Amino acid sequence: MSSLFSVPLILGTGGRLGRQAETTLSRLYPATIAATRAEIDITDYFRMRGELERLEPTLVINCAAASGVDVCERQPDLAVRVNSDGAANAARACREVGARFIHVSTDQVFDGNKGSPYLEDDIPRPISKYGASKLEGERRVLKEFPEALVVRTSWLFGPCGGDFVEHVLEEARARHSLSGVTDQVASPTYTPDLIQALLLLAEIPTHGVIHFVNGGTCNRFDFACQVAEAAGLEGGLQRVQLRWKDLGFPASRPSYSALSTTRYRSITSREPRDWKEALAEQFTTSPPGRAAPGWQAPT
Ligand SMILES: NC(=O)c1ccc[n+]([C@@H]2O[C@H](COP(=O)([O-])OP(=O)(O)OC[C@H]3O[C@@H](n4cnc5c(N)ncnc54)[C@H](OP(=O)(O)O)[C@@H]3O)[C@@H](O)[C@H]2O)c1
Repeated sequence: MSSLFSVPLILGTGGRLGRQAETTLSRLYPATIAATRAEIDITDYFRMRGELERLEPTLVINCAAASGVDVCERQPDLAVRVNSDGAANAARACREVGARFIHVSTDQVFDGNKGSPYLEDDIPRPISKYGASKLEGERRVLKEFPEALVVRTSWLFGPCGGDFVEHVLEEARARHSLSGVTDQVASPTYTPDLIQALLLLAEIPTHGVIHFVNGGTCNRFDFACQVAEAAGLEGGLQRVQLRWKDLGFPASRPSYSALSTTRYRSITSREPRDWKEALAEQFTTSPPGRAAPGWQAPT
């Protein structure tokens, strides 16, 4: 008899979160299927639907996205095709084949002006093409498949790398400096914790938008300092506090995008641990390496 976790399928396993999902799920569920973009392209509805009919997944986690915020600003058509149309395609195909569907979204659907942690029903007002395409994706996912889960998160880091943590270490080692902006505040979120949260939520008969981030907030500069401390790299580093608005990146980011996890905590009775505790665990269990060549300005 098939259960929720008989055949989990992860979309977007070439990426940071997708790789972590593959690592975690394949340890727990040997029948896990990991699909890179080359294997399942979410913008090609008919081929994706055919693959889902063939594979018969019981649970689908969509980690596929056009996640480069500045790339999306320059290529809004790409952002819409992947983050809005692609997300809707995946939701539709999952509804049609009867799979539980979890879609990952972002804090960047908010404008950052609230000044306190955003709740799920706060009105989103994206300030970038990326944020707008992700918001449209959320809406279309829930229209196609109202029983789907949309999980918003922020500032991902984790053992699979390609993230801000690796970027900080690279800068510290190569240039003996530590820099970060002070005008962006959010919650760094450890990818293994996020994946565990998705698995927990998958089993609960709930739907709609849910926020999951690790506990605590910080700005990017403080995040960088904490990474250096965890890596034992503090001494002799030049510390440079920057302001995002002076850096000239094409896309705007919210200045404050902390997400409230009240709903998550009430549904699951679990408390997300503090991001600093998760970071310390990463340095103990799988110390980060060098920044992946494809690292981009953070999402
Ligand atoms: N990273 C963060 O800090 C952050 C924060 C908040 C929310 N999120 C959300 O978390 C999710 C995962 O983000 P991530 O950081 O893991 O992104 P990522 O590293 O850029 O990975 C995204 C993956 O999606 C794949 N992809 C792109 N277009 C596709 C398509 N048409 N069909 C199938 N796969 C496609 C990419 O393939 P290629 O490898 O071939 O390019 C890539 O492997 C996204 O929904 C993102 O919006 C991320």
